[in-house]
Amino acid sequence: MTLAGRDFLKESDFTADELDHLLVLAAELKSAKRAGTEIPRLTGKQLALIFEKTSTRTKVSFEIAMRDQGGHVSVLDPSTSQIGHKESVADTARVLAQLFDGIEYRGADHANVEELARYSSVPVYNGLTDTWHPTQMLADFLTMREHAAGPEISYAYVGDARYNMGNSLLIMGAIMGADVRIVAPQHVWPSEEIQTLARERAAVSGARVTITDDVEQGIVGAQFVHTDVWVSMGEPADVWAERIAALTPYRVDSALMALTGRDDARFMHCLPAYHDQNTAIGRRIADEFGLVDGVEVTGQVFESGASIVFEQAQNRMHSIKAVLVATLATT
Ligand code: CP
Ligand code: NVA
Repeated sequence: MTLAGRDFLKESDFTADELDHLLVLAAELKSAKRAGTEIPRLTGKQLALIFEKTSTRTKVSFEIAMRDQGGHVSVLDPSTSQIGHKESVADTARVLAQLFDGIEYRGADHANVEELARYSSVPVYNGLTDTWHPTQMLADFLTMREHAAGPEISYAYVGDARYNMGNSLLIMGAIMGADVRIVAPQHVWPSEEIQTLARERAAVSGARVTITDDVEQGIVGAQFVHTDVWVSMGEPADVWAERIAALTPYRVDSALMALTGRDDARFMHCLPAYHDQNTAIGRRIADEFGLVDGVEVTGQVFESGASIVFEQAQNRMHSIKAVLVATLATT
């Protein structure tokens, strides 16, 4: 199989076999790095990283992956470049494609990354849009495979499900043949269009897709419980009150984890997470709304032995490296 020259924009552009190929490659690259036997296959390659939204994990993962493989990166952000305000997406794509071997883009509107790819002659990678977070999915599946009790992956995503993480976990599970549950109030379910896409892909893969507002029904039997922040990047601060009112029953606490009925249940979160008062927002939510022990997840679950969030974060790098090697390497 070759993925040379391909964009990586959203999960549904790929078959299960292609995504599996990337996951296997990610595991191999992870082992090789640990063993000190990694072979650089991107020597001299140049990658542009565009961040219109902030990032810790995604940015450093692309940087380290390129460095490990012998390549280089240039980071562009709107405040210090012409992107967005002075130069269109189409022109930016055509300029950067003259200079770089690949372009990563993080921003709000998914249409922007699609347009970038349309005008770029080099591969474009989606580092997160409001609609999809596909590199996160590779890390999440790599992590779940490492911890899975058996061949079937079963997981529930609990919380705000009509945004990048809910959408991506639904579609990725549907493509990969997982037992995937979306557990959220109906008004924050993935769009009808995305639900239909999930059912279509599940019909091919044999995935079991459940979308429910019933916490107990959604959680029982699932090995992995995922959540995400209740207010995403780019949303106004005044949505917190409405979101907390709607999502507090879906907060991941010890009682919710116990609903899995499994000793091997694991907690996952793409991060960053509000699980204590050590962030400005965590403190504000504690003061204003009385959620003193975390927001979408309690400190107790986040810090428990069931939490695998930091392994999940490390796997961002190995899986992003797999995408870069698969699409850019010529040897
Ligand atoms: N999970 C994730 O995308 O993290 P960053 O926002 O720090 O890149
Ligand atoms: N839903 C979150 C994910 C962060 C990685 C956001 O878009 O802010």
